[in-house]
Amino acid sequence: MYKNNYYYYLLLLIFVAGCFVVDAKSLDSVETVAAKFGVPLNVSYDHRSLIINGERKLLLSASIHYPRATPSMWRPVLEATKAAGIDLIETYTFWNLHEPTPGTYNFEGNANVTAFLDICAELGLYVTVRFGPYVCAEWNYGGFPFWLKEIDGIVFRDYNQPFMDQMSNWMTYIVNYLRPYYASNGGPIILAQVENEYGWLEAAYGASGTKYALWAAQFANSLDIGIPWIMCSQDDIATVINTCNGFYCHDWIDVHWTAYPNQPAFWTENWPGWFQNWEGGVPHRPVQDVLYSVARWIAYGGSMMNYYMWFGGTTFGRWTGGPFITTSYDYDGAIDEYGYPYEPKYSQSLEFHTIIHAYEHIILSMNPPKPILLGENVEISHFYSVETGESFSFLANFGATGVQTVQWNGITFKVQPWSVQLLYNNVSIFDTSATPIGSPVPKQFTPIKSFENIGQWSESFDLTFTNYSETPMEQLSLTRDQTDYLWYVTKIEVNRVGAQLSLPNISDMVHVFVDNQYIATGRGPTNITLNSTIGVGGHTLQVLHTKVGLVNYAEHMEATVAGIFEPVTLDSVDISSNGWSMKPFVQGETLQLYNPNHSGSVQWTNVTGNPPLTWYKFNFNLELSSNMSLALDMLGMTKGMIFVNGYNIGRYWLALAYGCNPCTYQGGYSPSMCQLGCGEPSQQYYHVPTDWLMNGENEIVIFEEVYGNPEAITLVQRVIPYTNDCY
Ligand SMILES: *[C@@H]1O[C@H](CO)[C@@H](O)[C@H](O)[C@H]1NC(C)=O
Ligand SMILES: *[C@@H]1O[C@H](CO)[C@@H](O)[C@H](O)[C@H]1NC(C)=O
Ligand SMILES: *[C@@H]1O[C@H](CO)[C@@H](O)[C@H](O)[C@H]1NC(C)=O
Ligand SMILES: *[C@@H]1O[C@H](CO)[C@@H](O)[C@H](O)[C@H]1NC(C)=O
Ligand SMILES: *[C@@H]1O[C@H](CO)[C@@H](O)[C@H](O)[C@H]1NC(C)=O
Ligand SMILES: *[C@@H]1O[C@H](CO)[C@@H](O)[C@H](O)[C@H]1NC(C)=O
Ligand SMILES: *[C@@H]1O[C@H](CO)[C@@H](O)[C@H](O)[C@H]1NC(C)=O
Ligand SMILES: *[C@@H]1O[C@H](CO)[C@@H](O)[C@H](O)[C@H]1NC(C)=O
Ligand SMILES: *[C@@H]1O[C@H](CO)[C@@H](O)[C@H](O)[C@H]1NC(C)=O
Ligand SMILES: *[C@@H]1O[C@H](CO)[C@@H](O)[C@H](O)[C@H]1NC(C)=O
Repeated sequence: MYKNNYYYYLLLLIFVAGCFVVDAKSLDSVETVAAKFGVPLNVSYDHRSLIINGERKLLLSASIHYPRATPSMWRPVLEATKAAGIDLIETYTFWNLHEPTPGTYNFEGNANVTAFLDICAELGLYVTVRFGPYVCAEWNYGGFPFWLKEIDGIVFRDYNQPFMDQMSNWMTYIVNYLRPYYASNGGPIILAQVENEYGWLEAAYGASGTKYALWAAQFANSLDIGIPWIMCSQDDIATVINTCNGFYCHDWIDVHWTAYPNQPAFWTENWPGWFQNWEGGVPHRPVQDVLYSVARWIAYGGSMMNYYMWFGGTTFGRWTGGPFITTSYDYDGAIDEYGYPYEPKYSQSLEFHTIIHAYEHIILSMNPPKPILLGENVEISHFYSVETGESFSFLANFGATGVQTVQWNGITFKVQPWSVQLLYNNVSIFDTSATPIGSPVPKQFTPIKSFENIGQWSESFDLTFTNYSETPMEQLSLTRDQTDYLWYVTKIEVNRVGAQLSLPNISDMVHVFVDNQYIATGRGPTNITLNSTIGVGGHTLQVLHTKVGLVNYAEHMEATVAGIFEPVTLDSVDISSNGWSMKPFVQGETLQLYNPNHSGSVQWTNVTGNPPLTWYKFNFNLELSSNMSLALDMLGMTKGMIFVNGYNIGRYWLALAYGCNPCTYQGGYSPSMCQLGCGEPSQQYYHVPTDWLMNGENEIVIFEEVYGNPEAITLVQRVIPYTNDCY
């Protein structure tokens, strides 16, 4: 039969009975897990696969970053992941999260990596830890703590002694911190990664970069953790396993084996979607294409494939990199930002994984066979087990268009364009191009609370300046990345009504005021016409520059600068050297209005006028229940930051999305295809983790930079897909 309905009904049954939190019977029993982890494992490899205690492994892996969720979400997310046939969890350890100031370490709350690893171990999931310390990850500064930039003579990711000293301090600390968790010591961690995609930027560092990459590998090996080290996209080093990152990696395998015939083929980042930019659409990579890429990979001999991200979650606080990346890190992953299966991606992946694991013994019993061409753009990779007589094949049509009809073993197969069929004993049991459930189910929310008696407090323009200079100063040297905000203030002389203010070189975003009156907001090169309310004569120009996340992917990130740069002109007059006063932080941050312990220090008024640069305070009661999954619908607001009981849940911005393109992924997907939601705010809903809410009284504080109607904000409940009777 062409399409195996049996699996579909089986899945439905799992959903109805187990509500994704699969019942304990289908997971490894606690006894099995205890036997698996607790005694040291022998993790080795050859060209074909990782070998654990003598057994070959075909590993299906999922990226989940523990700080992109809160602790109570970890277990259900990992359970749903395990239930989807995933064996391996891949995570980063974020240096800037764990070592906020030199020598002080943070492993609390959602930084509690060992608590996360404990759940992985309990569920019988293996783990890959990517130590970085550079991690990219759309994470602020790619994981580097800001204080690293302030070390004299430092050059990041180079053969540079100050950098290598800091890197070895941190790596030694974190690698030792996790020592009990390596498989060699009875823990779940079977692979470790140093650096990240360095090979893509190495040329920019010349010979010194090559030396650094070698040193990084050598240093990692010297830490002696008893499991293999990998480096991704690093094709010039033999002492660790090189791995592939990309939307497709099957063509890489041959190149890899030519260079390193004894290394297995590992795919560390298969992007099942993409991250979202502010003003961009919601990325979407159809599951048909994701599974096509995975099937091609396994057919060509790949033995570990990781979805980056499988569950993306939320980048809380000021942790998003960028600049200009959304707070949601949903990534179009199989488990959505809120921890629920995203369909049809989740179920289709589950079905595919189940089949791969069921026949993994056939696939791993031999080297990948040379594909046999059966017709135009159609080939078959036919695996068979000499021992059992079974076969398992990948029948692929790699053409972008055209259904092909081919013969195999005397049977006729119709093969859809850009698809792979899985054949067991020459019978098709799965087709990557089939979509039994339909197109993506959008996330839905229902309002559960609107807010009354909202407090309002407007920012003070009575600025006490901390820094003064002839020209505007570089922002990060003043804010040290402790805040997004830096005020730049100068005196201007307006010679005509309708004068044009030009800020052709700003790094991120400005809110421009004249004499405390809001004029305009600009992103990138900005021209602003000062209208008739600003008469001829002397005025005060006040520009709030907003940094929207530090760069996470670039060469020489130590050289990152931000803020307003020369020239600044008023009509044709260069006012860059007018003498500027600068001040980091907005007043409400200094007063810690976001912290309920300090929010009482100012007089909050009733909501009126919706002025710019305003703080709003919402006090409300909530009865928490275990099935809650909440968000704030921020429609009506413009841009700012949200705090819940003192926790920063992230930046918000209701900027409209534009630039969505049609979904013509056949022939090769790229993130500019298939986006959704153009014409709507790029992000309207902001996840409020229940871990940060209280049963009873709660306080939400919002800082709005521009304009908003706080009375339009509602607390919403995520509608849980499929069933009402679970969670
Ligand atoms: C670990 O397994 C590999 C491959 O099966 C084997 O060659 C090696 O001797 C084993 N090492 C130990 C310490 O048992
Ligand atoms: C991490 O979580 C465990 C519980 O799993 C707890 O015992 C431990 O104190 C936590 N660590 C920190 C630093 O909060
Ligand atoms: C599958 O087809 C191949 C090619 O015709 C044949 O060699 C093999 O015996 C077949 N296997 C089974 C189980 O039918
Ligand atoms: C800015 O002002 C603060 C407070 O006076 C001072 O500590 C700091 O050194 C100044 N920064 C620069 C770069 O001048
Ligand atoms: C903007 O200013 C920065 C910092 O001085 C400089 O590196 C950059 O080249 C400038 N960009 C433009 C377009 O002038
Ligand atoms: C001038 O600009 C301000 C701020 O954008 C606006 O409130 C005001 O209505 C404008 N006045 C005129 C006459 O355009
Ligand atoms: C700003 O105005 C200048 C001079 O009129 C012009 O050259 C430049 O392209 C404008 N920039 C933007 C972003 O509109
Ligand atoms: C806010 O409004 C309420 C009800 O309308 C009123 O009782 C209260 O006095 C107002 N508070 C302030 C500070 O104006
Ligand atoms: C949560 O559970 C309660 C009690 O079972 C139920 O009344 C409510 O509808 C559930 N809420 C959601 C969003 O499923
Ligand atoms: C508020 O103060 C209490 C008591 O000192 C403390 O336990 C709590 O952590 C503080 N809350 C915040 C958000 O800082």
